[in-house]
Amino acid sequence: MSSILIKNIKKLVQVEEPTTLPRLVVKGEAMRHLPSIDNSWLLIDGDKIGDFGKMESCPDSAGTIIDAEGKMVFPSWCDSHTHLVFAGSREGEFVDRINGLSYEEIAMRGGGILNSARRLQNTPEEDLFEQSWKRLEEVKKFGTGAIEIKSGYGLTVEAELKMLHVIRKLKEQSELTIKATFLGAHALPQEYKNDRKAYIKLVVKEMLPRIADEGLADYIDVFCEKVAFSPEETELIIQSGQKYGLKAKIHTNQFNCMGGIQASVRNGAISVDHLEVVNDEEIDCLLDAQTMPTLLPSAPFFLNDHYPPARKIIDAGLPVALATDYNPGSTPSGKMPFVISLACVKMKMTPEEAINAATINGAAAMELQNTHGSITQGKLANVFITKPIPSIAYIPYSFGSDHIETIILNGQIK
Ligand code: NIG
Ligand code: FE
Repeated sequence: MSSILIKNIKKLVQVEEPTTLPRLVVKGEAMRHLPSIDNSWLLIDGDKIGDFGKMESCPDSAGTIIDAEGKMVFPSWCDSHTHLVFAGSREGEFVDRINGLSYEEIAMRGGGILNSARRLQNTPEEDLFEQSWKRLEEVKKFGTGAIEIKSGYGLTVEAELKMLHVIRKLKEQSELTIKATFLGAHALPQEYKNDRKAYIKLVVKEMLPRIADEGLADYIDVFCEKVAFSPEETELIIQSGQKYGLKAKIHTNQFNCMGGIQASVRNGAISVDHLEVVNDEEIDCLLDAQTMPTLLPSAPFFLNDHYPPARKIIDAGLPVALATDYNPGSTPSGKMPFVISLACVKMKMTPEEAINAATINGAAAMELQNTHGSITQGKLANVFITKPIPSIAYIPYSFGSDHIETIILNGQIK
């Protein structure tokens, strides 16, 4: 079995000592703590984390040796919410917003998600795969090691299956760990404008059984919002997914508080995502649940909207995960370090909180907390070595710079 010994590490970040119970999700006050070891070593055995410790106890190794003097080692980012399979781009709408239209107005006119759906429906699967593959390779360079990817720009049986086939092929060919989510209820196609029930029926009675039959999805998602689906419709779709063993990860509270969090929590959702607007009742509801509040600050950055109340959520004792939401409409970027900077600058999360949210809590939002999201014996060896940097806070501070020198995925140097 091949091995890699990284030594003289300035700081080994987000470690779980074998003597303590591993943290599978980090909440509230505990999010301020990011366990790290200064002047340390890390041994990778095959595709797993073997062992680690202080330099005083550094072992000999017959395998590859990397000297990380002045550099830090982090677990790879876990990006638990993306739509990176899409066709083309939507910079026309970006300019429309600069000229005064809102995201919701563009959606109401048949732009937005429906615009991307028309393009995707007309894009051959091979071409869609090539476009998506390039995006996946790009986010790998930003330090992402595990990622969730949604369908939802198909909106017909055939095109939703095409998207999920592309995601399956990405899973087969990429070194990243990928989770697939079925988001048939992303927008109401115009031809169903006067018959919402018929589209929901198509989603639950035709798309879902085919997708489940082919084993194409790990999760189910709904866009619960005024411009999309109601909490009642969301609940029905979540429950339909449950019949096929798909747990829910739900888009909700992007623009309105309308009961989406309650509907998701009632039905045991893994995560509720966006939360640009959240009221006290919804915070209380989350406090009684295992559902991960997942914040996507590059969406309000790009839409020039207000940011989720991360402080209020964390100070209430809840966990937070951070993800990119990479998509052509609200976030044409899959850069986790930028999301971490936004979390610190715009949502007043500390660098430690933001890194917990982007690693272990992101892993939990994809049910990967036993294998990803921290440097723990036996977890997958998905880590990156930084360039020489002065401190952990330097990462969100020097936003826009590239801090990564070496990427290791599944124990292989990239
Ligand atoms: O998470 N809000 C719903 N879905 C995406 C945006 C989709 C789009 O505009 O293409 C989001 O922001
Ligand atoms: Fe999204």
